[in-house]
Order: sequence, then C-alpha cells, then structure tokens
Amino acid sequence: MDGFKNISALRKNIVVLASGNGSNLNALINAVNTGKIANAKIALVISNKKRANALNIARDAEIPAFYAARNLSNSDEEYDLFLLNKLNEYSIDLVLLAGYLRIITPIFLKAFENRILNIHPSLLPDFGGKGMYGMKVHQAVLNSKADKSGCTAHLVTEKIDGGRILAQSSVSIALDDTAETLAAKVLAEEHKLYPLAVNNFISTVQFH
Ligand code: GRF
Repeated sequence: MDGFKNISALRKNIVVLASGNGSNLNALINAVNTGKIANAKIALVISNKKRANALNIARDAEIPAFYAARNLSNSDEEYDLFLLNKLNEYSIDLVLLAGYLRIITPIFLKAFENRILNIHPSLLPDFGGKGMYGMKVHQAVLNSKADKSGCTAHLVTEKIDGGRILAQSSVSIALDDTAETLAAKVLAEEHKLYPLAVNNFISTVQFH
C-alpha cells in the first residue's frame, strides 16, 4: 500500500486550459499515455469556450472536462478565483496553457507561480506579446521575410509571452509558404516540443 502512496505522491496532477482545437492537448494526452511525460496525470481540462474541440478530446480520453462560462463571474479576478477553486478540488500541481485565449490574472499567477507553462507558435521573443496569436503570428513572420520560424515553450508571467523560455524548435520557411502552411508546420513541431518541455520541467523542478 505504501508503495502506491509513494507513486501517487510523485505523480503530478496537470490541468490543461484550452480554448480551441485541442491538438496540443491531444499531443499531451498521448505523451502521458505513452510515458513520454512521466510521473504525471492530466487530471482536468477547462475551457472558456463552450464548443472548444479540446473539451471533446478530453471527454473521449475520459478526463474530467469543464466549460467555465465567462458569466460565472463579474470580473476576470472572480473568474480566475472560480478556476483556482476547481484546481484545488483536483489537487492540481501544474497548469498547462494550450491555445488558451484568456489573460491569466495576477491572483492566479501568484497561486501557481513558476507552475504555469505555455506553448507559443513563434521563436520568442520575436512575434509575441499582446494580440499575437493564431494566424496573426504567422502572417507577421512572413511579412518580416524571416527564413525560419518555430515554437517556444515558456513559463507564464504577467508579461505576455515574456516568461522564461524552456525550449524552442525551429522550422524553415519556404518561398511559397502561406500563413496556413507555416501554421501547420509549426503546429507539428509544437506537438513534439511541448510534451518534451513538460516532461523536462516535471523531472527537474522541485514542487512543494
Ligand atoms: C497553438 O498554435 C499554440 O501555439 C497557440 O494556440 C494554438 C493552439 O492550437 N498557443 P491547438 O488548440 O492546440 O490545436
């Protein structure tokens, strides 16, 4: 029995916050299931979008999945307090943002300081910051005539896309790339990079 207790104490409970398609969530679930992310369990998925495909992916994987409506609260702080209560219920150790299109308020950041990770579809610090999400990122990269782009796994702080970089992976840009083809190339890299970065983070960081 004690052995089981030790194993569950080692295992980190993850929440994934996602607003969209959920392809990164899917990659994270696969990585946990195949042991590429060790000592972890995706214990909870929350979306701020009712129709987010991420919720379907979570439910198919039999992971508790909730839609947290904006009107549950009067302010962003109240919304995040609601989320924090939910995270508490599931004894969450680590927060992974995967296409989560809401700003995390200071109250949430403080509660999970250095325990919130994000994946961003560019080589930060380039093409990050307020308003830089989705196709806007890839279009800006193409407009800049850069010859490569990529993705970045990073810690989340109050500075949007400005937290410590944990890992990056690059892709080359072809002359005929459009924002859509570049997005697809980068997304394929994200699916490899994010699980690696999460596993590395869990194995090297002290949780308390
Ligand atoms: C990804 O490009 C990620 O970098 C960004 O949002 C997108 C989410 O895609 N933060 P998905 O929902 O994981 O498919």
